[in-house]
Amino acid sequence: MEHFVLPNTDLDSSRLAFGCMGFGGPWEAGPHTREQVDAAERAVLCALDEGFNFFDHADIYTRTRAESIFGEVLERHPGMRDKVIVQTKCGIYLPGQLHPGSPGHFDFSREHILEAAHGSLARLKCGRIDILLLHRPDPLMVPEEVAEAFAILKAEGSVRYFGVSNFSGAQAAFLQDFLPDPLVVNQLEMSLFHHDFAEADISVNQRPSPVPQGMTDTIQHCRKHGLTLQAWSPLAHGRIMAAESAERPANEKAAATLVRSMAAERKLPPEAVALAWLLRHPARIQPVTGTVREERIKACARAGEVGLSREEWYNLLIAARGKSMP
Ligand SMILES: NC(=O)c1ccc[n+]([C@@H]2O[C@H](COP(=O)([O-])OP(=O)(O)OC[C@H]3O[C@@H](n4cnc5c(N)ncnc54)[C@H](OP(=O)(O)O)[C@@H]3O)[C@@H](O)[C@H]2O)c1
Repeated sequence: MEHFVLPNTDLDSSRLAFGCMGFGGPWEAGPHTREQVDAAERAVLCALDEGFNFFDHADIYTRTRAESIFGEVLERHPGMRDKVIVQTKCGIYLPGQLHPGSPGHFDFSREHILEAAHGSLARLKCGRIDILLLHRPDPLMVPEEVAEAFAILKAEGSVRYFGVSNFSGAQAAFLQDFLPDPLVVNQLEMSLFHHDFAEADISVNQRPSPVPQGMTDTIQHCRKHGLTLQAWSPLAHGRIMAAESAERPANEKAAATLVRSMAAERKLPPEAVALAWLLRHPARIQPVTGTVREERIKACARAGEVGLSREEWYNLLIAARGKSMP
């Protein structure tokens, strides 16, 4: 798999990142099992074999189990830590997490960022977090507090770089003004079935102008300032590959059919073609794949072999949006 140096860092990363949200099974509270660690270990070893070295987490994934499981995998393999990049996220409370009846909400307070990052470090057993992301914009964010928390985490050696997730360009630019170091990542939902980032470019000056919420100038901000755009749910949580059904909207059906036929022409798996659609974008989008099954990890890893032409890229987008270019 191709590697690249993440802009504004010294991190040599695989072109695809491995999302760890699937470790630990369901999201109910409770400890993880040995079987879950064994399964995650098989997935991580397969991913490393296929060239992945970037692992994406969040404190909330499977209610902290995903991080704990990954920490155990690292413990089982001394030496693995130095071969991988560990990213995690903070800033979300799940419903009932704070106390029974508390709502799901966001918290970018200094105290919460510090507590969450220290909790992740303890679970991941990785010595330091390479990149810490703020998970979802908190309307109550006080940027000076975020800056203070980041400075403490950096000074104590707990976190090397910082980034954001689900931020618009304007939100990232606003926070950046309070930080001494550049934000290095913005992780957004992007896929053939969630193509708002492309739509934001196409829809300018159209009537009516269906500019997707928050996406205006987001890609441009990230490209201009060197934030790596990471695509979460790059396969639309598996929907692109799902079996055909009568309920499937016509545009999704057309796009999925085209993905399959392009894959068959190339003798490659459809997962590779769907991911290649993101790789073809000049922003160097880094898809964060989410499968934990070995055969699918291998299928995703072949995305770099696809090589889409401009015409093929547009044909896929036109099929997915269900209408031609303006
Ligand atoms: N920043 C955020 O707000 C945010 C939100 C969501 C996710 N994320 C990150 O993004 C990562 C990826 O998200 P995702 O899991 O939705 O990504 P995805 O790669 O679009 O989907 C993977 C999911 O689809 C299933 N799937 C079904 N058929 C599949 C196929 N043919 N090929 C591949 N997968 C198939 C997988 O199940 P199997 O495991 O059984 O294959 C897995 O649950 C997460 O792990 C997490 O790190 C971030």
